This record gives sequence, structure tokens and C-alpha cells, in this order.
Amino acid sequence: GYDLWLRYRALPAAQKTALAAAATGIAAPDDTPTVRAAAAELKRGLAGMLGRAPDAIPANAKVRAGTIVLARATLPAGLADADAVRRDLASVGSEGYVVRRTRQDGVPVTLIAANSDIGLLYGSFAWLRQLQLGTAPDGIALADKPALPLRVLNHWDNLDRTVERGYAGESIWNWWELPNIIDPRYTDYARANASLGINGSVLNNVNAKAEVLSPAFIAKAAAIANVLRPYGIRVYLSVRWSTPLELKETKTADPLDPAVAAWWARKADEIYRTIPDFGGFLVKANSEGQPGPQDYGRNHADGANMLARALAPHKGIVMWRAFVYSPPAHPNQVSDRAAQAYDQFKPLDGKFDKNVLVQVKNGAIDFQPREPAHPLFGAMPDTPLVMEFQVTKEYLGFATHLVYLGSLFQETLRFDTRAGNQPMTVARVLEGAQDGRVGGIAGVANIGSSRNWTGSTFDQANWYAYGRLAWNPDLDSRAIAREWAGQTFAPDARVVDPVVAMMMRSREAVVDYMTPLGLHHMMGTGHHYGPAPWVDDLARADWNPVYYHRADKNGIGFDRTAKGSNAVAQYAPEVARRFADPATTPPEFLLWFHHLPWDYRMPDGRTLWTDLVAHYDHGVAEVAAMQAEWQRLRPFVDARRFDDVAQRLAQQQREAAWWRDACIAYFQHQSGLPLPAGVRAPA
Ligand code: GCU
Repeated sequence: GYDLWLRYRALPAAQKTALAAAATGIAAPDDTPTVRAAAAELKRGLAGMLGRAPDAIPANAKVRAGTIVLARATLPAGLADADAVRRDLASVGSEGYVVRRTRQDGVPVTLIAANSDIGLLYGSFAWLRQLQLGTAPDGIALADKPALPLRVLNHWDNLDRTVERGYAGESIWNWWELPNIIDPRYTDYARANASLGINGSVLNNVNAKAEVLSPAFIAKAAAIANVLRPYGIRVYLSVRWSTPLELKETKTADPLDPAVAAWWARKADEIYRTIPDFGGFLVKANSEGQPGPQDYGRNHADGANMLARALAPHKGIVMWRAFVYSPPAHPNQVSDRAAQAYDQFKPLDGKFDKNVLVQVKNGAIDFQPREPAHPLFGAMPDTPLVMEFQVTKEYLGFATHLVYLGSLFQETLRFDTRAGNQPMTVARVLEGAQDGRVGGIAGVANIGSSRNWTGSTFDQANWYAYGRLAWNPDLDSRAIAREWAGQTFAPDARVVDPVVAMMMRSREAVVDYMTPLGLHHMMGTGHHYGPAPWVDDLARADWNPVYYHRADKNGIGFDRTAKGSNAVAQYAPEVARRFADPATTPPEFLLWFHHLPWDYRMPDGRTLWTDLVAHYDHGVAEVAAMQAEWQRLRPFVDARRFDDVAQRLAQQQREAAWWRDACIAYFQHQSGLPLPAGVRAPA
């Protein structure tokens, strides 16, 4: 599992012959670490697939048939279709690439061309991906570029190497040994990310410690940055609002105090002296007990802009998180946690400096198996937004349950916000289609030092899918699953078809056996593993699952219409209208927006109670189907990975039944209704 999707296994004989003729040598400018990384990856990949690495063709030597030519900006003389390549290059921007079979000096070559070093690396990976998937070299013609400039991973890694919400072992960053001992794993991490086009890495947890900005940790971060740099990955740090105060270097952390601003400016200068291409800061402020500018009567924009001004001279950015989650100001105040971020951030639209981006979770609660898209997408036309997905499965069964998140990411990216009363998907919002404010995308990493990086084989697919969608949010999650399966197991329909079938049903399965029909946040307190819909005694109302499902004798669901919290009004009018009426609310969001009687008639004619039970049952049946599918793969998958997945699926099966039984028993206790007879799974 260590090789991830970069396995480069030997090709079948016929494909080998075709590729051997198309990969006799590599002609690359040997002038920068990034180009050297591209050439090294080509060698590694081809050595694996062919059993023999191509030779390096020295500069100025004549190319021979089958040379792979890496060309940056200036094309080599004697290229057959130079004009067409130039046209393509003009459209792929600074990070894109062009790959095609052509002729140079009359002999057939593979051209990998780009306007920059990093484009050459991305193009090399893209070509290798096609080869791993069994595409004949003659059939590969690519011209591509990323849709978003900022494609980052957020590590919630603590400085003691524990990982918040991490299920794959300790942090890969060995803070104890850095900066002088460099684990080769950092390079493999960089390769894996570059193969997807991920170009940023926030090294530490959003619940940050002041120490991360001490000289010792800046040196450690710099050592990591040195490894990641050739792969086009910039390093960022999460910072704690009160850092200067805690380090006893200022008397306050008030963003409007000149001494505080001066401290941050000096700190930024210090960081950039060691990490000249440092990306910037990620900030969680005034949320879940973290300090922030509100502690001084200031707002999020005051705080973000102060930091942004410290970073601006160095071209750094601030990613300021919109995930705010605080108790209601008054104990009796009616509050809806889902409404907080919009309430605090919408009024600040247009008030942030140019190098501030507001980072918004995909949904308004917290990385649930299903949430409607966050209402802030489309609501802040004057602020660039960063999408925050969680790749680690905090609420979806950790690394035990097999859940392919490509489907979840796609659903959110394609959600139509109807901002400005026109079609406007979340992806378009990120790309700046509203008002030219181009944002980015962030994924909370599921990476740790476990041998297979992510704790389970199938969790590698979530890293992969996140990266591919970060590059191109319009990609199809099924196509991504096919790519991943082909590279991870074998590009053979007998393997890919059942693996993809499992993956594609897995997300709906987890929604069904955990929180169907728009239910949310019923997981066990703190750890968020396993069912606990009955919990009602925690200190804060919005920590308790009962706050979210509100089940009693009369019905179930959170009323977010005008009769309830009215959070629905945060969406664009067209969306708000649709979600305000249960009849026009998609069933998958029904109990997110409505509190309904148990005998409410569902579109399929059955009662809500009957449908709810059916969904739970269906989720369990789907896991059984996944298990059966996996069993058919035994002949095609190595024993080690086969057994590991089989054991995890068996555990998932037990726990899906646990979820169903616990939730149905609890809701039955609330509703007082008998179990519906002869329930069939919903169509
Ligand atoms: C969730 C998660 C926390 C995390 C927080 C955040 O609430 O459970 O561990 O710190 O999100 O995103 O900041």
C-alpha cells in the first residue's frame, strides 16, 4: 500500500513492446530541481512498467525515435507540429501542460511541453497515469490546466505528532527529528501530491499552538519546505491568534494595537528569511474556544487584515476560516449552529484585504455524511472563498468504514447556489465566476505514518479524489474512481468494475445507515464514532444529538424554515423557496430543514417513519452487497490488501447494523410506533 496509485507495475507483454518503442530516452533540460524531479519520475515509472529505465539524452545530442522530450516554453527545433503545440501552450497557463505524440527531426517522439517547470512535472505525471491505465502511447494527447490556483491539504497535525481526527497513525512530520533528519517519506508525500496537482500544504493543526512560530519550529517547517519545493508545493502554517501574547512578546493580541501588528510583521519577515516562498497563514479564530479578534471587540476582518498586511510584502496569503461555533450569547437565546458562519461573515463581504481568502466548510454544520452546500457559497461575491472538505472521515466511520468521498465532493461542487438568480454552482463560485474573486480548495488530510498512509487502502482513494477534483472540480467522481482503481489494483475491467461499483454505492450507504433523510450529528460525543442519538445531557445544547434531530412523540427534524431558525433564508431566494417547503425539499435534505410528523407522506407514498426505517435497512444491505463484491475480487488482489479490506468490510457490516438498530430502537422509543411491516428498501 505504500506506493499509493504510483505503483508502476509491469505492463502485459504486448503493451510493454509498444511502450518500449515509445520510451527509449529522456531529453530534459537538466537545470532545475523540478525538471529533475520530472525526469526522475519518468524513469521510475518506466522502469517499473517496462523493467528498464530509458537513458538520459544529453543536451544538444540528436533525439532518437522514442525519445520523451520535455520542453519548457521554447520548443525544440525540428518539431513537426510546433504551431499547434504553441497554440495549446497558450491556453494552459502557468501550471498546465501539453502532451502529444509528434515527430522531431523526422523521428517519432513524445512531447511533454509546458510554460513552467511545474507544468512539466504535472505533464509527466499525467502521461504516466495514462500509461498505468493501459492507454497505448500513441493514443495519448493531453492539454490541461488547473481550474483553481490554490489547491491545498490541511494537516490537523499537532506538534507532538498526534493528529486531530487522524486515523492513520502519527503525523508524517517527525517534529522531534526535524530539521536535521529528513525522512524520505516527505519526498514520496510530495510526489503523490504533485501527481494530483496539489500545490500547498498547511503543516499543522488549525487548533494551533503558539510554539509553531518559535524559531525552532520555523526551522523545522523550512526543512519540510525544502523537500516539497521542487514538487510545486508551498508550505503554510496554522497560527494561533494569541501567539505574541502567549510568547509574552506583546501585552495584548488586539489586532488594532500597533505593537501587535508590528510583532506579526516582524514574525512574517523572520519566516520569509528562512522560507522565501512561504505560502501564508491559516487561522481558526473565535471558534470552539480558540482566541480571536472578537475577544477585543474586533471582527474577523480586523483580524484577518492585520495578518494579511504582515504577509503582503512577501506575497503571502491568509486563509481565514469561517467555521465558527460558539455558544449562544444568552442562555435562552434560540440559536441554530448552522446559521452562525453566515451571520458573522456575510456582513463582512468586501471588507477583507486582497490577500485574504475566507475558508468555508462544505456544509454549515460539520463534515456530516451529507449536508446541503454551505449558504456562504454564492453569498460573498466580493470575497474569494476556499472550499474546505474533510478527507479524513471524522463522522463517516474513520478508516474502518469504506466510504468513497468523491461522490460527496462532487455533490457539493455541483450544488447550484442560484447566486445572482442564475445558474452558479459552488465550483463556479470558487473559480470566481461571480465577481472575479478567484478562491481555492482545501482538504483536511487523512494522511499519517501508517504503512499505507491513510489507514486503509480505500481511504487512499479519498486523497486521490480530493486532489483530482481540486485540479478540476468538474471531473466526474465515477471516472476518478475508475482511474484510482486502475492504478491501485490493475487496469482490468474484472477488477475496476466491481471496485468502482463498491465505491459508488458506499457514500449513499453510510448516509442511509447513519443519518438518512437529512438527519445529522447523531454520532457519539467527542470521538464521533458510532450512534448516540439519545445524548441530551451535555453542557451546551448544540453539543447534544437531540438538538439536531429533535425527535419526540409528534415528529422529527430540525425546523430551519421561517417557523423555526429560518436558516433557510441564508440561501439565494430561489434555493430558499425550494428548501422552505417540505414538498419541494429533496428527500435527502428533508429533516435538515423540516420538523415533520411521523406520518408525513413521503413522495413514494409511504410514511416518514416507514421510509426512515427502510433507509436504515437499505444502508445495511448495501454494505452486505459491497462485501459480496469484494469477495469476487479475491483472485485479482494480493492477499495482504484483500484481507485487510475484507476485515474492514466485515467490521463495517457489524457497525452498520449497530447504527441501524440503535437509531431505530431509539426513534421507535420516541415515536411509539410499531416497526413497519414488510418494509422494502427505497428505490
Ligand atoms: C470539528 C472537529 C474538530 C475540529 C473542528 C474544526 O469540530 O471535531 O476536531 O477542530 O471541526 O474544523 O476546527
